[in-house]
Amino acid sequence: MESKALRPLAVVTGASSGIGLELARCAAEHGYDLILAADTPLDHAVSAMQQLGAQVEAVQAELASREGVDQLLAAVKGRTVDALMANAGHGLGGAFLDQDFDDIQHVIDTNITGTIYLLHHMARAMKAQGSGRILVTGSIAGFQPGSFQAVYNGTKAFVDSFVAALRNEMKDTPVTLTCLMPGVTDTEFFERAGMQDTKVGADDNKADPADVARIGFKAMLKGEADVVAGLKNKLTVAMSKVTPSQVLAQQHRKMAEPGSANS
Ligand SMILES: NC(=O)c1ccc[n+]([C@@H]2O[C@H](COP(=O)([O-])OP(=O)(O)OC[C@H]3O[C@@H](n4cnc5c(N)ncnc54)[C@H](OP(=O)(O)O)[C@@H]3O)[C@@H](O)[C@H]2O)c1
Repeated sequence: MESKALRPLAVVTGASSGIGLELARCAAEHGYDLILAADTPLDHAVSAMQQLGAQVEAVQAELASREGVDQLLAAVKGRTVDALMANAGHGLGGAFLDQDFDDIQHVIDTNITGTIYLLHHMARAMKAQGSGRILVTGSIAGFQPGSFQAVYNGTKAFVDSFVAALRNEMKDTPVTLTCLMPGVTDTEFFERAGMQDTKVGADDNKADPADVARIGFKAMLKGEADVVAGLKNKLTVAMSKVTPSQVLAQQHRKMAEPGSANS
């Protein structure tokens, strides 16, 4: 009979680049085998994690749709998942009235609907198996009305709030939920959101996604409720809680208005 040392299994969504790729690296370095998901080919991520000794499966799926999430769930094949990192998400810059509604819907479907559909299945399975760690990537953007990125910030307000609530609902189970709330991080996010001409997009002081992922992964292993990566971001969140919403919206405008990179 084939004997194989039992390695824990982690699922990471949005693992083709940025924070998700680095979360996958953290998991591989900690001895996890991996199921990686994204909507574009994952060849680079797969070979990087294999080089770290992980067994890796890739699922190329549109996680904005239930069908795409079902594809990922089918790949799990009922196995015990020890850690889920629900990280896939994207932004959309520009004025709300100028945005295409299909693009708006895609942000909501990816960041909210796809994420909670995945959680609905996988948190249930973890509860039934009596173990599991979940990390969801929210954002400090969830604390700020996001002028010129209004829908995205709204989705992250949902995610930040939802994870805290679900954590409370599941507090008498062995399953933990952690919300990773990064600030501005140096990934493909701003290019994909069409925000390269904004002050925030052009900021060359963005956080390193590897550092952000390490902080999030550690918090997940400890079962912490939420983690804001970086002192500056912690201060931003603290100020957000005591600042009037229209002041925050005006501050966000200065960072995210198209053309603000040159102002
Ligand atoms: N960068 C920041 O400043 C920042 C700050 C706070 C929070 N975040 C959050 O961090 C998470 C990761 O973003 P990132 O900064 O690492 O950006 P990124 O480099 O653009 O990575 C996003 C990942 O999500 C995947 N993804 C997006 N939409 C998807 C969909 N509909 N179906 C399947 N996969 C999808 C992308 O895969 P594809 O290759 O298939 O598109 C990619 O793997 C997101 O939830 C984002 O909101 C980012």
